[in-house]
Amino acid sequence: MNITEKEFGQGAVLYRLENDNGYKLDVTNLGARIVAFYVPTRNGIKNIVLGFDSAEEYLQKDTYIGATIGRVAGRIKDGNFVIEGKPYHTTQNEKGNTLHGGPNNFETKLWLAETKQNLHEANVTFTYTSLDDEQGFPGNLDVKVTYTLTNDNVWQVEYEAKSDIATLFNPTNHVYFNLTGDVTQNVGEHTLQLASEKFAVVDADTLATGEVRSVAGTPFDFRRGEKVAQVFDTDYEQNTLVGGLDHPFFLEKAEPQAVLVSPAEDIKVELLTDEPSVVIFTAQFDPLPEMHGQKLAYHGGLTLETQVSPGALEHGFGDIILPAHKTFKSQTSFKVTTH
Ligand code: GAL
Repeated sequence: MNITEKEFGQGAVLYRLENDNGYKLDVTNLGARIVAFYVPTRNGIKNIVLGFDSAEEYLQKDTYIGATIGRVAGRIKDGNFVIEGKPYHTTQNEKGNTLHGGPNNFETKLWLAETKQNLHEANVTFTYTSLDDEQGFPGNLDVKVTYTLTNDNVWQVEYEAKSDIATLFNPTNHVYFNLTGDVTQNVGEHTLQLASEKFAVVDADTLATGEVRSVAGTPFDFRRGEKVAQVFDTDYEQNTLVGGLDHPFFLEKAEPQAVLVSPAEDIKVELLTDEPSVVIFTAQFDPLPEMHGQKLAYHGGLTLETQVSPGALEHGFGDIILPAHKTFKSQTSFKVTTH
C-alpha cells in the first residue's frame, strides 16, 4: 500500500491511495470527494469514475461530482421540515427546494484530512464541523468520512456523525461510474443488476411524489441484469420526465445489492451498503461539461448514491432524524473485479 499527496489548487490536496495490485484511488479534501479511480484491465489502465483535474474545475463546472453530499442528499420540498415539533427552514437552491443540503455545502468545503495505512489497506479520514443553523439545519454537527482502498480492490466509504441538537442527516457519495474509461461514451451499454423490486416515482422537479412503484413490467426492472439503455430507449413517462434515471431504488437484502459491468465485460463493480436505497442518476447534464479536455457524453456517467430515499420525511421512506448526541454510522463499499 502506498499514499502520496500533491497540491490540487484552491488550498486543496489530492491524495492517491495505491494498493499492491496497481489500483489507484485519488481523493481530495475539497468536498471529501473521489476524483479518480484507476484500475488495471486487459485493455489497459482505466479511470472508472468521472472527475476533474483541479479544484478550480470542480468549483467552476460541477461541485457535486464525486463529492460527499450533506447534510441531506436529494431534495427537501420547499426547504421545510419539522423535528420534535419544531419547524425548520433550509436554504432553497433549486426550484424552491433544498437540493443536496443547500448551496455551498459539504461539497465545496475544505475538510481536514488524516491518512493511515497498514499492509492490507490505506485510508484517508476527512472531518468537517457543520455549524448550528448552517443552511438552516439545527445543531453543530461533526462529520467524519473515511475512504479506504484495500488489497482486495475494495473502495469503502464510512460515515460517522454526531450533533448537539436533533437534526437531519442523510449523506451520500455522489460518485459517477463510467466503466469504459472514456468520458465521451454514454453508459447505455453498461449492464446493471439491481436487487430492487420498487422505486420512488418522481415529478418533473425530481421530487418524490410519495408513490412507490413496482419495477415489474417497467424499463426500471434491473433485477436480472439489463443494459442501462433500456431506460433511455423508451417513452416511459418516468424516463422522459427527467431525461433518464434520476430515481431512488429501494434495496432488498442481497449481497451485493448492485452490480455494474462495463460494455467490454472487463470491469465489474459490486455495491454493498447498509443504506436502504440507492439513487441512480444518469448524468443528463445541460450543459455538458468538458472533462480531461473532452466533452462529457450525455448520459456519460451513472451514480450509485446510497442513502435513505429522498422524500424520507414527507413520505415515510425511512428515518433521517439524528437525535442529539447519538452517533450516526453507515458504510458503503464498491468491490472492483477486472479482467
Ligand atoms: C442527483 C440529483 C440530480 C442532480 C444531481 C446533481 O443526486 O438527483 O437531479 O441534481 O444530483 O447534478
